[in-house]
Amino acid sequence: MNLKESLKKIKEESESFSLNTKEDLDKFRLKFLVKKSEMMELFNIIKDLAAEERKEAGRILNETRNLIEEKFKQHQEVVLSKREENANKEDLSLPPLHNQKGSRHAISIIRNRIIEIFSRIGFIIEEGPEIEDDWHNFSALNFAENHPARDMQDTFFINMEDQLALRTHTSSVQIRTMQTQKPPIRILAPGRVYRNEAVSARANCFFHQIEGLYIDEKVSFADLKQTLYFFVKEMYGDEIEVRFRPSYFPFTEPSAEMDISCTICKGKGCNVCKYSGWLEILGCGMVHPNVLKNCGIDPEKYSGFAFGMGLERQSMLLNGVNDLRTFFDNDTRFLKQF
Ligand code: PHE
Repeated sequence: MNLKESLKKIKEESESFSLNTKEDLDKFRLKFLVKKSEMMELFNIIKDLAAEERKEAGRILNETRNLIEEKFKQHQEVVLSKREENANKEDLSLPPLHNQKGSRHAISIIRNRIIEIFSRIGFIIEEGPEIEDDWHNFSALNFAENHPARDMQDTFFINMEDQLALRTHTSSVQIRTMQTQKPPIRILAPGRVYRNEAVSARANCFFHQIEGLYIDEKVSFADLKQTLYFFVKEMYGDEIEVRFRPSYFPFTEPSAEMDISCTICKGKGCNVCKYSGWLEILGCGMVHPNVLKNCGIDPEKYSGFAFGMGLERQSMLLNGVNDLRTFFDNDTRFLKQF
């Protein structure tokens, strides 16, 4: 095969060679551009040629080599820039980075759930201050002068002179609402409350409550029961049993405490329900006429009910938590479970 034919063959081969990857480039270089390649070997023929043929042979050899080199360079640029682009893209085969997302606190979750349930039957939110005066926290709520809750042993006073204290319950929001709004009133008061208690698995010096209040004409104990039945079924499920026990609160008459069948043993008896089969979940009652009077509402015309519950307790019962302190430790391993 003469030089021209060999070059033609090489040229055709190089033209049809596809150059899309780094590996293609390497193969191409080995085949056409390194010293020992088929193409470069042809340059050795020149020295054996007659002097008058050398010039022409050199010209066509150089021409073909230049074409091949040109093709190589062009594709090299494209392939390398593509590689760089890919290197900057995220590697989807890598395991995901640990995602430290924030989430709601267990107490917020239970509060929102309770609010959501009562909002379906028309209750709206009211809030009040955490530092209360004696009147809103005690007197207006019909607490007797010598009631033990008014003692420093039970309540954190901030200023004895003005009788300012950290509120011991959210019932003070009942008073503030009734003073400023006309019936019908249908509110929920969620918030933090404080009591001078030794910290234990069952008690803390502060915790969260949610209080409900409904005032209108002809509100009866039957309304109270139906409202709370609705709440309990929505919160704890249809199969839960409910009972009311008579109780005492200065601001309600009659007063009751509501129990549900134990969420752990389903009423059979276990150490959570102290083998009674029942768990206490809230206090409630018909708003005392004195309380209505104290707020400028006519007890002859209006009546109403109130109820109050601890949020930590609801979450403990619902989620099987056995130590109230865990809600305040801020241990994310605990909080992440909700
Ligand atoms: N305020 C009461 C408590 O803190 C709960 C309660 C609210 C009881 C409303 C009756 C009516 O224990």
